[in-house]
Amino acid sequence: MRRVHRETAVQPVISVKGLQKTYAGGFQALRQVDLDIRRGEIFALLGPNGAGKTTLISIICGLVNPTAGTVHADGHDVVRDYRAARAKIGLVPQELFTDAFESVWATVSFSRGLFGKPPAPDIIENVLRTLSLWDKRHTKVMALSGGMKRRVMIAKALSHEPDILFLDEPTAGVDVELRRDMWEMVGRLRERGVTIILTTHYIEEAEQMADRIGIITKGEIVLVQEKATLMRQLGKRELALTLKRPLTEVPEGLRDLPVALAADGAELIYTFDASLEDPGIAALLARVSACGIDYIDVQSRQSSLEDIFVSLVRSNS
Ligand SMILES: Nc1ncnc2c1ncn2[C@@H]1O[C@H](COP(=O)(O)OP(=O)(O)OP(=O)(O)O)[C@@H](O)[C@H]1O
Ligand SMILES: [Mg+2]
Repeated sequence: MRRVHRETAVQPVISVKGLQKTYAGGFQALRQVDLDIRRGEIFALLGPNGAGKTTLISIICGLVNPTAGTVHADGHDVVRDYRAARAKIGLVPQELFTDAFESVWATVSFSRGLFGKPPAPDIIENVLRTLSLWDKRHTKVMALSGGMKRRVMIAKALSHEPDILFLDEPTAGVDVELRRDMWEMVGRLRERGVTIILTTHYIEEAEQMADRIGIITKGEIVLVQEKATLMRQLGKRELALTLKRPLTEVPEGLRDLPVALAADGAELIYTFDASLEDPGIAALLARVSACGIDYIDVQSRQSSLEDIFVSLVRSNS
């Protein structure tokens, strides 16, 4: 018996194998996806627009049929055993759609019923309070602001106490306060043992919340890694010097440094590791001056997610 227990503990809560999706029009949105989600983790799926994030989530949640491959959620095949799998899952979809004419209370309570769970006013109250919707419980959904509607979507997804929660771009276009509430909520759910999978374009969001990060591009997962490890790798910053006169090439005297030209030669970009004690900025500026290059502005910035994708995709192809 003990052995069985141990196996259950290490068994992934979601197991995706050989997944492919070609949409009716012939577009191949997922090429070959293999992914295991660990029980109780927060997993952030990052990827540019059109990478296949929503497609992947929709298949796991049983809303879109795979062309090939299998998905198991808590041991249930999401196609063959849809109801059992779906009952374990809460989904906050990327696109908002709610029953506009219902009150907040009714729509959230109804959602719970859809999963065959008995009414539980105390649970619904708790969910609404957590999401600062309690004062709005009698308000019709259509009379809420966009951010509040998003909260309602989250409340609906939590109404049946799922073990696994998908948040597809939960903070796209929401204000700072909701974003913070969301992070807190995710933290509390995680403490209760809920597994959370979220997609985001914001690297700092993944950095705040995730235990592991997966990067998907063009229908393929190109990397899955512990956040701490990834952040060390991605912990690169850039120093951009806006030049007084554009250059056509990197001057001889700077070629041994990690510098490149951007903006048609109007910017000189120096890439450095922010975790180093001496990232070499003073030395760089001295060398730039020694080369007789004048600059009018200096900006330091985190290398963007876009850069990260580009470098990852390049190194993975
Ligand atoms: N129902 C559909 N029919 C045909 N093609 C689709 C359909 N849904 C999505 N696609 C295509 O599949 C690809 C992946 O779309 P998907 O929505 O999964 O991307 P995403 O990673 O979620 O992007 P975003 O960051 O913009 O939300 C896109 O090229 C999209 O146009
Ligand atoms: Mg999407």
